[in-house]
Amino acid sequence: MAERKNPAPFLTEVQVAKRVKELGESITKDLKGKPLVCIGVLKGSFIFFADLVRQIHLPLSIDFIRASSYGNKTTSSGSVKISFDLSLSIEEKHVLLIEDIVDTGLTLRHLLDHLKHRNPKSLRLCVLLLKPGKLYKPVPIDYLGFTIDDRFVVGYGLDAGEKYRNLPYVASLSTSRRKKSRSEEE
Ligand code: IMP
Ligand code: MG
Repeated sequence: MAERKNPAPFLTEVQVAKRVKELGESITKDLKGKPLVCIGVLKGSFIFFADLVRQIHLPLSIDFIRASSYGNKTTSSGSVKISFDLSLSIEEKHVLLIEDIVDTGLTLRHLLDHLKHRNPKSLRLCVLLLKPGKLYKPVPIDYLGFTIDDRFVVGYGLDAGEKYRNLPYVASLSTSRRKKSRSEEE
């Protein structure tokens, strides 16, 4: 069977790298030399996370967390569960939560509440992409990469049915390709 061509860039590697560097500079400046715990939300943030931490010039440690939301495949059910939790203590630490994309805001709202209970000294949020159209849980984003319209994006860590995470840029996926990725997964 012929290989399908990858979807074209919506945000290029150069655009993303420039913005990630700017975000790293702002975070470095705001924390003023204080040690930081960076927490990546698996799986989607893994590439953004790896690029961003290399642009943050502070003493830092890293950890990961994973949240799964239950419901059908197209809408969030509102029920979010932590399926993989931190290994480090964040009590009295400055914490930066790093996420790939905010759509409804349900996942991050849940994660922020979960982390607040661990008594960090401060808790900041950095998100690469925000789709404000469907946001129905307010999410206090401190550092934002890009605001985009309501389209399904893949690449740079983001997937459709586990495909496309390794694209080095962010691409916009057509509905037909989304359907195909899902049926391949099943
Ligand atoms: P929320 O809880 O509705 O904000 O959904 C956030 C999660 O849904 C993200 O962490 C992604 O895993 C996933 N998601 C939302 N929009 C997209 C998209 O356009 N592409 C890939 N994943 C997405
Ligand atoms: Mg995610």
